Amino acid sequence: MKLKNDLILKAAKGQNVERTPVWLMRQAGRILPEYRKIRNSLSGFKELVETPQLAAEVTIQPVDILKVDAAIIFSDILVIPESMGLKYEMIEKKGPFFSKTISNRNDINALNVSNVEDHLSYVFEAIKITKHELSGRVPLIGFAGAPWTILAYMVEGQGSKTFSKAKSFLYREPELAHLLLNKITEITIKYLKLQIKAGADLVQVFDSWAGILSPEYYEEFGLKYLEIICNSINEVPKTIFSKGAFFALEKMNGLNCETIGLDWTMSIKNATQTFNNKTLQGNLDPCVLYGDYNTIEKKTKEMLHKFENYRHIANLGHGVYPDTDPEKVKCFIESVKSYK
Ligand code: CP3
Repeated sequence: MKLKNDLILKAAKGQNVERTPVWLMRQAGRILPEYRKIRNSLSGFKELVETPQLAAEVTIQPVDILKVDAAIIFSDILVIPESMGLKYEMIEKKGPFFSKTISNRNDINALNVSNVEDHLSYVFEAIKITKHELSGRVPLIGFAGAPWTILAYMVEGQGSKTFSKAKSFLYREPELAHLLLNKITEITIKYLKLQIKAGADLVQVFDSWAGILSPEYYEEFGLKYLEIICNSINEVPKTIFSKGAFFALEKMNGLNCETIGLDWTMSIKNATQTFNNKTLQGNLDPCVLYGDYNTIEKKTKEMLHKFENYRHIANLGHGVYPDTDPEKVKCFIESVKSYK
């Protein structure tokens, strides 16, 4: 089906666009009362993720309500560890929890990297339904977690401020860490290719915990595997978002991807001088959306001005915070769309 709005794909490929496209990380979710209504009628987050018709419905909500230029499939990065054999729970007000974690070679050998087509069939089904129901209104973004971020959850077993258990695994057991990262990379490539086959028009890889590693360790345990993923996927444009990895931007210029996500701590001026032949995505501080309407408009336009004449997809510098007023989100989107 031909896309009626392909701004984000054009921007990703560096083609001319009549205006900057805009979407938000975590746009499908708790900010919308329409989402909470569906979510509260179910046993929990996982039921929503695993019910393709409902996952498709909440994927499309931000397109209808917020008028963003792309949809992102409603799922989670943690479906990959689950497919490999580590079941996760999503605990209300706390976040993800794994009762089984990875600590030795046997644990890694027991992981399964095959059958992702069956294990995660609900994701591919949700993508197919979403594509059908979008009927070409906007492109659909598929996604996965980066190998380092997935390792962090598989070793740590839950969210953490420092992820010191996961980080110490890299120092104590570097060889095992590489063994695990290779397995995650292998399944992630299969997973992204299946999302593309099901209909994803573009894919984003989230390295949410990039910023807690030293530059040397991020190169060895992070970027190395992002490079393999980028070189293995050539079907659609790819975005790499390494949160907090300002120290790695120069190296990331060498990645075989179209777009680099920037968080709000990264200098736009610095980034536009560092990269060549890439599109940049981001990077408004999500907290700007707690400001009043004038502040949101002003800060959004200042950001757009700094990206002027540079390939750009407007977004926040990380996911939108759950207690953000949807009207403020609309103000951000409108400010991008009306920018001249
Ligand atoms: O709108 C979208 O962006 C698509 C859906 C999406 C979710 N998670 C849904 C979700 C995406 C792209 C993700 C990615 C994700 N998941 C990341 C990478 C992006 C980032 O934020 O850094 C990470 C680290 C996770 C792991 C995860 N999932 C955590 C730590 C949590 C708990 C904290 C939180 O944000 O609530 C989740 C839960 C989760 N994933 C929710 C949603 C809508 C909230 C669940 C609910 O209560 O409904």
